[in-house]
Amino acid sequence: MASLAQAVRTHHGSLAKTLSEHVRALEEGSAGSEALVAFLKGDLVPHARSEERHLYPLVDVLAREHGQATATMAVDHRFIAEYVGRIERAGQELAAAGESERPALLRKVRELALRLEAIVELHLAKEEQVYLPLIESQVDEASQSSVLQAVHNAYQEEKRMAEQQVLDVREVVPRERHTLIFDRFNGLRPGEAFVLVNDHDPRPLYYQFQAEHTGRFSWDYLEQGPQVWQVRIGRSQ
Ligand SMILES: [Fe+2]
Ligand SMILES: [Fe+2]
Repeated sequence: MASLAQAVRTHHGSLAKTLSEHVRALEEGSAGSEALVAFLKGDLVPHARSEERHLYPLVDVLAREHGQATATMAVDHRFIAEYVGRIERAGQELAAAGESERPALLRKVRELALRLEAIVELHLAKEEQVYLPLIESQVDEASQSSVLQAVHNAYQEEKRMAEQQVLDVREVVPRERHTLIFDRFNGLRPGEAFVLVNDHDPRPLYYQFQAEHTGRFSWDYLEQGPQVWQVRIGRSQ
């Protein structure tokens, strides 16, 4: 007999495959929703129930001793980040697309957005139904407010970094690019960096940095053409 983990993986694979076949059939209009509902009620839901009865009790014991209760939530966060990247790339393709490619790309962006929405909906429900009641019932008010303060500060810091992180100059007229880049660099605090996105190798800029900011900047290529160049430019002091 196959190992438990392997058997679960195999079953997941077949559930996911059947589910996406039903979704495609629905999209193409080759089947109604009855077949999908029959699969969900006859297969997917029984799978979930059987896990709750026999697999999760085992995982509960193992996670207490060897695991990390929030590991599954961190997986959600990684999926969310991946979807953000996929939506961003699809959006860029859409912006550059010709008239004939637009409908398919628009559909792709919408589909990704809907999938992300479902992931986020589930993720928030898990935090609110499992984590928050635990905190409300077990953590005293002083500790709650000090964690709240820390979360709030980290959120502001992450927001600031997200805003500052990328400087895409591809749509900027060439004569304005250097000013924009040096303004961004001058606004950095020591230890901070941003990613410059350009449509050619910004090597001349590197020499200008070397001349004007000797020993005070870092320069790391993240992508080197042929269409896009990305450089992480940091302020070291
Ligand atoms: Fe499962
Ligand atoms: Fe979260």
